[in-house]
Amino acid sequence: MHHFTYRDGALHAEGVNLVDLAAHVGTPFYCYSTATLERHYRVFADAFGGRDTLICYSIKANSNLSVIKTLAQQGAGMDVVSEGELRRALAAGVPPSRIVFSGVGKTRDEMAHALQAGIYGFNVESEAEARALSAVAQEQGRTARIAFRINPDVDARTHAKISTGKAEDKFGVPWNDAAALYALAADLPGLEPCGVHMHIGSQITDLEPFERAFKLLSDLVGDLRTAGHTIDFVNLGGGLGVPYRGTDDIPPHPDDYARVVERAAGALDCRLLFEPGRMIAGNAGILVFRVLYLKHGDQKRFTIVDAGMNDLIRPTLYDAHHDIWAVDEARGQEPALVQDIVGPVCETGDFLARDRALPPFREGDLGAVMTAGAYGAVQASSYNSRLLVPEVIVRGDEYAIARARPSYEDMLAAEHIAPWLTPRKA
Ligand code: LLP
Repeated sequence: MHHFTYRDGALHAEGVNLVDLAAHVGTPFYCYSTATLERHYRVFADAFGGRDTLICYSIKANSNLSVIKTLAQQGAGMDVVSEGELRRALAAGVPPSRIVFSGVGKTRDEMAHALQAGIYGFNVESEAEARALSAVAQEQGRTARIAFRINPDVDARTHAKISTGKAEDKFGVPWNDAAALYALAADLPGLEPCGVHMHIGSQITDLEPFERAFKLLSDLVGDLRTAGHTIDFVNLGGGLGVPYRGTDDIPPHPDDYARVVERAAGALDCRLLFEPGRMIAGNAGILVFRVLYLKHGDQKRFTIVDAGMNDLIRPTLYDAHHDIWAVDEARGQEPALVQDIVGPVCETGDFLARDRALPPFREGDLGAVMTAGAYGAVQASSYNSRLLVPEVIVRGDEYAIARARPSYEDMLAAEHIAPWLTPRKA
């Protein structure tokens, strides 16, 4: 469910007409809906009503400060994977006690910064990292609360590039090593091993892999407690999928996911942490483009638009499907035509949709790539020296530029011509 709907013949983001918005900010741009972000957070949080939970929104999905702050105001904690994300969370006013730090390659500097900030805990992904974190914590006279991220070797049945819980994936520590690692961590002076973490992948649309993974996690907690460890939280990661194809592929509702959690881990008597990203931000954002030209190739109809793979790489990188809507409601009701929606980037892979029956777009039309709020703007680049597209957030009838489009002057000012390339005057 989201708040992008047609009114008076035009697609609106909540109360804001996207035709007017495009005239004000120029295209392409990302547009986020506050009501949708809040709703998704609430649906997830309410599914665990009554339980001691900490829902750490996974900032990597959409790290815009306004998005972070919107969620923080709902009570969300944050899952960060870099000092940059940590700084964003702190800048948005998130209490450090609600921040967890994940990632396979935290540097010692990042660890030190997070320890100084006083975050809730670290998800640790290797013995080497555990030793480094202990040393950094000891230097500061602090103890780091940690959960090892366990790789349960469970197939999440999602796209290979976003599966993380199989033995061949780089993530986590092998299930079989867990007992020895917790024993080691308990002996290391700078660590307090008090949680267990798992995250098996993203865009998971089937609850069975979660159920298997959470059962394994729950068994492990039992074993660790028997071995004398005090485990006071489990972190079940993120991964719940969102509907990318209209109403055709409805993923499990958070209530059903919560029942799986309850069955597998409900009796553990500890705090439950989650790290949802896509589920919160995915449907809360769209990418608005304008049609530049139409081209009829020998075999295909190409609709060339001003947004490309550098702005939204998901179709190219993961063969991802995103619905595309015409902003003009009447255009959307005309008979569909099979076409490719392509961008201006000089790459064959620069497409937003391929061989899809879509509205018969004409030059100058506006279109919206739906469900682009997660892993959209954050994965954008300036390839082809294209400027990063702005991000706009709406709330009711209001909108704000949450990240402005940089200027070409900004782009050029960030670089310096090496001195030997500029001839010195005699
Ligand atoms: N926790 C950890 C440790 C993660 O690695 C991730 C995502 C999440 C939580 C959040 O997962 P979510 O709830 O969003 O599924 N760029 C890809 C997705 C990469 C996901 C990386 N890790 C995409 O566009 O599909």
